[in-house]
Amino acid sequence: MDTLNYIILVPMVYLSFAVFTAGIVFRIVSILRKPALPIPLNVYPQKNPAWLHALIDTFLMPAVFKAKPVMWFFLIVFHACIVLLVIGHIELIRPFAIFQIIEHDVFLGRGFVGVTLFVSLNYFLFRRFSSEARNLSVPEDYFLLILLLFTVILGSELDWARTWFGYGEMGAGEYQGYLTSLLVLKPDISEVTYSGHSFMLVFHVFFANLFLMFFPFSKMMHAIFTIPLNKIRRG
Ligand code: HEM
Repeated sequence: MDTLNYIILVPMVYLSFAVFTAGIVFRIVSILRKPALPIPLNVYPQKNPAWLHALIDTFLMPAVFKAKPVMWFFLIVFHACIVLLVIGHIELIRPFAIFQIIEHDVFLGRGFVGVTLFVSLNYFLFRRFSSEARNLSVPEDYFLLILLLFTVILGSELDWARTWFGYGEMGAGEYQGYLTSLLVLKPDISEVTYSGHSFMLVFHVFFANLFLMFFPFSKMMHAIFTIPLNKIRRG
């Protein structure tokens, strides 16, 4: 068991971040090397300044709002929570003063970031069972959503165990110790593997690792390409 915990919490984390970074670079380079498309991409209504409209299209998604307001609501809430999630995880490595402009506990969100992501992911998943969306869905769509759902459920369980149910022995300090040890290449998992609910962390990190390795080869690459593509469309 100790060996399995170690494999998931140490080498697999290094591997997943290596695949994540190298995979993204590889995807960007291979797309840039493709010959330019002979079809015009800027057939979308051109508005000036184009970069501003590209940012509005990306972050406010007005076209989705018009066509599917409920979907739009969940998309906005989901992406806002992803931002909070990224900040929360960075603070688990080290607290940065800039994030404390609004004073908060680490982990951020008092457990509600996880709840909101859970509800939104269920909406995205079950929406795909309706006939219209089902016809457009491929196995990758379900795989990605289920992987994210597992990661979110286990991350949330960890947070709720600590903040809502009083299992305080594994907290921000212990996570900071573990994550910093990974960063300085002196891995130490002792602080995060002695507790009764350490298995939740191991499962959380296992699914997170799978997600990070899958990211560059999946539709998640929209996170990198959406702004440039909207800029091209807006001229
Ligand atoms: C190797 C990478 C990761 C590590 C080491 C990690 C570790 C952690 C830890 C230690 C917590 C805090 C638990 C607490 O507050 O007690 C947490 C929370 C959480 N993590 Fe991760 N995580 C990783 C990646 C991810 C990914 C990729 C996702 C999903 C996209 C994710 C989703 C969550 C969620 C939803 C929470 C709970 C947030 C809340 O309810 O407030 N994590 N994670």
